Amino acid sequence: MRPDPQTSPRPESSPLPYGRQSVDEADVAAVVECLRADRLTQGPQVERFEAALCEASGAKHAVAVASGTAALHLASLATGVKPGDVGVTSAITFVASANCIAYCGGTPHFADVDPRTGLIDVASLSEAVDRLAASGTPPKALVPVDFAGQPADLPGVRAVAERVGAAVIADGAHSLGAAYRLPDGTLRRAGEGALADATCFSFHPVKPVTTGEGGAVVTNDEGLAEAVRELRTHGIHRDAARLTRPDEGPWYYEQAGLGYHYRVTDLQCALGRSQLRKLDAFLTRRNAVAEQYRTALEGAPFLGRLEPLTVRTETVRHGYHLFVVRLIPRDGETEEAVADRRRGLFEALHRRGVLVQVHYIPVPMQPFYGGDVSAFPGARAYYAGCVSLPIFPGLGDGEVRRVIDVLSECLDEDAAADSAESR
Ligand SMILES: Cc1ncc(COP(=O)(O)O)c(C=O)c1O
Repeated sequence: MRPDPQTSPRPESSPLPYGRQSVDEADVAAVVECLRADRLTQGPQVERFEAALCEASGAKHAVAVASGTAALHLASLATGVKPGDVGVTSAITFVASANCIAYCGGTPHFADVDPRTGLIDVASLSEAVDRLAASGTPPKALVPVDFAGQPADLPGVRAVAERVGAAVIADGAHSLGAAYRLPDGTLRRAGEGALADATCFSFHPVKPVTTGEGGAVVTNDEGLAEAVRELRTHGIHRDAARLTRPDEGPWYYEQAGLGYHYRVTDLQCALGRSQLRKLDAFLTRRNAVAEQYRTALEGAPFLGRLEPLTVRTETVRHGYHLFVVRLIPRDGETEEAVADRRRGLFEALHRRGVLVQVHYIPVPMQPFYGGDVSAFPGARAYYAGCVSLPIFPGLGDGEVRRVIDVLSECLDEDAAADSAESR
């Protein structure tokens, strides 16, 4: 076999992105085989991929769609979000977690995050839900996010949802393969069980596995899976029991409601199935990279200056879609000053070829969502100092060391600039 273009060593100086796909010759072969088969779309690969997703997540049903965003949109529709409804998601996430409510004609609201984890703060969620309920618009859906690959507090979110009869749509874009423990000790994978009515995965190239673009809704609820399936294809069905003209002919289908063209191709699903075989190995490698970073962060020059996100005791297996470090504020340092230092660090790392990223700009800060983040102190504190370091399965130990060395140089530069300023 030819060397794997994705995992063969990169030249020492080549830029290191914060994330990237890991595609090997087996993946290439799976797609080529599909290209030579009869169907490029709506063929057998889609169902096979969905079955493999059920196995990987522990969910009873999986519906593969065109993107993680499409999955969130269809899950919102299928759980009953309608024009005039409200939904609540995390202030720190990708915009899609909020947009899914807006697509349905609803209004997204936000709950604050715990700045140490970047995960939704259940106390803040509870307050937001009570406030909305008191003003006559109890939320129809809550959208917690398994930020960076760490499962959110689903039992906590579920308890809040039940108070107002809201659906729980877990945004698992980062967390396929991650696992957590319930209060009674039961082990759950992201997407498993019924604490969330639906869990949405993304298969964008930087995600745990890729299909190029793609996503899926997984659920234990057969009716919900069926509704998503129908919405994926224009709202069309061939269910004999529901046809208004059952004797029309063998070609006949009906459109019962308004759906979308959110299908995913066989080519993508062939890649996805091949990728899923490596999910466990991918997560093992991501965890090993994270361990290397964590160990480095415990010593000089990082200790007391930079810290990784906290891992909850409930987290059994972290997905490490992202490895986020946060600048620790100095005594009396303002958020603005931390944000300035973060910008300096970001730019210095980029100059040296370490292409860190910022995940995420608080969604309420987006002009579309009002541009005001003042009500979310946790999100503000988190955002001021966060930087996502490179992490992906093909990242070598030497490359991780290079990131650590460069990060250390940049911190020293920051300290030198600082002492020059205070002179
Ligand atoms: C938290 C989160 N939710 C949803 C999405 C949307 O996924 P997709 O890009 O597949 O539409 C992403 C992708 O970036 C994400 O990070």
